[in-house]
Amino acid sequence: HWTMDEFVGKEIARIRALVGEKGQVIGAVSGGVDSTVAAKLMNEAIGPRFHAILVDNGLLRQDEAKTVHKTLTEDLGIRLTVVDASQRFLDELRGVTEPEKKRRIIGRNFIEVFQEEAKKIEEAAASSPQAGEIEWLLQGTLYPDVIESISFKGPSATIKTHHNVGGLPGIMHLKLIEPLRELFKEQVILHFRLRCRLYFICNVPSGGPINARHVILPNARTKLGIPERLVWRHPFPGPGLAIRVLGEVTESQLAIARHADVIFQEEIVAGGFYREISQSFAAVLPVKAVGVAGDKRIWAQVISLRAVQTTDFMTADFWYPPKEFIKKVSLRITNEVNGVSRVVFDLTSKPPGTIEME
Ligand code: XMP
Repeated sequence: HWTMDEFVGKEIARIRALVGEKGQVIGAVSGGVDSTVAAKLMNEAIGPRFHAILVDNGLLRQDEAKTVHKTLTEDLGIRLTVVDASQRFLDELRGVTEPEKKRRIIGRNFIEVFQEEAKKIEEAAASSPQAGEIEWLLQGTLYPDVIESISFKGPSATIKTHHNVGGLPGIMHLKLIEPLRELFKEQVILHFRLRCRLYFICNVPSGGPINARHVILPNARTKLGIPERLVWRHPFPGPGLAIRVLGEVTESQLAIARHADVIFQEEIVAGGFYREISQSFAAVLPVKAVGVAGDKRIWAQVISLRAVQTTDFMTADFWYPPKEFIKKVSLRITNEVNGVSRVVFDLTSKPPGTIEME
């Protein structure tokens, strides 16, 4: 019989055998469920011989780099370097409005920054006689990523470029280590589902694919010790707020997106809606509208709010907000966020929409 505890134990043993006594592993983390679980597994297996790198691309949400740093280092004991590359990303994005071009720029710069940092870690390791060489790159690839990247392939079928899929071409001398990939073999999914139905040890949606969240639940109290708030964290895309600021990405538009999003998220949590929603965000539309602030006419940005419910992120229903809730969010955003005159709510499911706006 197959269990999650066994998976974790086996995976740790497999990683140790693969990496050897001295080998070192690097990997990118985002603070999301998947990369955090993958990183924690590595940490359990080889401790500080795993080096995590968080690239702060300047497109993260309010205080996100700080929060992720705290969780990974203080709560989970993972060795982490945060690289502040904000300026570089913003410089490269200046004047760019085409969505796919934005994604390509972010993807390319992410790889470059990661490689540069990996090189520094490799050099430091090389000059330390006790440390082994860095031979491995951690990849937190999950089954849904693989499916989407397959269905997104080909010039005609390309819907969006998911920048974290497909490995990092520049550091090909590193071998890929993919602790979560095993989870998505059909057999494992089947066994896991059966167990879940029979023993209620976790809440894998019946029919939906599992993700890293389901790895952690049964082990939250035992092996992995991932904090509860992280288990339920909604996904956040690699290109970050750049695809939620429609049109040109500037500091001031990013500040609006951040502030509006903080308010929306705060109210979602306060209203007790966080777990029924799969993902939600505030986007800054590339238009201005007239409004009144105090007794003055303003011509300012329009914020679009979106919340969806889904089990697999391949299709999704829009979440319909209760009136009192959305009224409060709208009022707070127009009152508290400078440069916003209006709030609209996105009523598009996927398909025909996508979850993100760009
Ligand atoms: P879409 O917009 O394609 O989003 O319906 C589906 C899910 O994927 C996330 N997303 C991304 N995640 N890199 C990521 O890591 C990306 O480039 C990217 N684009 C979309 C999106 O937030 C949603 O959860």
